[in-house]
Amino acid sequence: MATKKIRVGILFGGRSGEHEVSLLSAASVLNAIDKTKYEVVPIGITKEGRWLTAEHAERLLKGNAGEGARATQSNLRAGDPEATPGAAVLATGESVVVPPEPTRRDAGLAPFQTDANLRRASDRAINVDVIFPVLHGTFGEDGTIQGLLELADLAYVGAGVLGSSAGMDKDVMKSLFRAAGLPIVKHVTVLRSQFEREPKKVQKFVESKLKYPVFVKPANLGSSVGISKAHDRKELGPAIAEAAKFDRKIVIEEGVGGKKNKAREIECAVLGNDDPAASIAGEIIPCKEFYDYDAKYLVEGSEPVIPAKLTKSEMKTVQKLAIAAFQAVDCTGLARVDFLMDPKARKMFVNEINTMPGFTSISMYPKLWAATGVSYPELIDRLIQLGIARHEDKKRNQYSR
Ligand SMILES: Nc1ncnc2c1ncn2[C@@H]1O[C@H](COP(=O)(O)OP(=O)(O)O)[C@@H](O)[C@H]1O
Ligand SMILES: [Mg+2]
Repeated sequence: MATKKIRVGILFGGRSGEHEVSLLSAASVLNAIDKTKYEVVPIGITKEGRWLTAEHAERLLKGNAGEGARATQSNLRAGDPEATPGAAVLATGESVVVPPEPTRRDAGLAPFQTDANLRRASDRAINVDVIFPVLHGTFGEDGTIQGLLELADLAYVGAGVLGSSAGMDKDVMKSLFRAAGLPIVKHVTVLRSQFEREPKKVQKFVESKLKYPVFVKPANLGSSVGISKAHDRKELGPAIAEAAKFDRKIVIEEGVGGKKNKAREIECAVLGNDDPAASIAGEIIPCKEFYDYDAKYLVEGSEPVIPAKLTKSEMKTVQKLAIAAFQAVDCTGLARVDFLMDPKARKMFVNEINTMPGFTSISMYPKLWAATGVSYPELIDRLIQLGIARHEDKKRNQYSR
């Protein structure tokens, strides 16, 4: 007798700047997921934050990207909105919800209950066994969606509320890394309000702690948005003002490699819950002065090298540090841990953790696992099982005596 398929809600799109990248990641997942084992329910979130039904969601994913014509390597890298013109479709669909209350999810029901006569929010609730939030950045990777799914008592893929939000905030993340004894770059954190009130004082503070060049970043973002390299005092103020457009907290750190050298960018993939494993590490060689937004998504030439050209012991160190970083922020499921390496001293610094890294079949995270022996479809399967296991484990917790 055939066993009942597990119903997986693939959440994609969303309100973040990485909306288009998410559409591409989700299209890859939809293509590769084992359909004999899983019943897939695509759920699109518009840029305005509306959640839409399967029918419309599916149309969204069938942009040109799905037809192959424009689904080139560079389009996938680019998260080119043109490659997913179905985005417009999201403006019109019928909405569904995850109500912030546990819902009875009975087998055999339709994936959505959309009867307009039913007034309770839970009656339009998504009816799935587990959610795969293929969402990057703000509202996807930062603990907010995870909080909603916790309230709804739904199993989901990836890190929980704490791991997600700690991994999103470069200031908090660094504190946790430091507490765990991990090597991190020298840095300071300043507040936007501080800078606006006393810019001169902030400049002096930064210069008393760090040597130029420095990297100036909004604490909570990604994709290198709002990040600049300040080579000297003249560039520091404008760099802080730029980062301050995106967050109230600004992280300023010493540039690895100093004035003369570029940092090497080493990345390692981690998979698991309580016993996480690390993949072999890869390297990105950016085609620009640093791995900025353009180098990530717009211009070609920043190709990954897998495995990274490291000595055996350096590779081991990276893997050990990646797992330690994963545990330091209390991550579960998956994460890509990024390092900056001083090319001269060959010293390794943990730069950041991404709890929902780019997930197209040609993204670094899946590629690192493929090179380590875990295929893309198998990776998806493992992640869903880890999400379910985590939810089961959590069910054991009592909330009162
Ligand atoms: N301290 C640093 N030294 C050298 N390069 C850096 C430093 N911090 C950031 N960079 C460069 O900026 C890029 C983006 O910074 P990162 O902290 O990874 O932000 P994001 O979360 O946006 O990816 C890095 O990939 C690297 O190229
Ligand atoms: Mg990065």
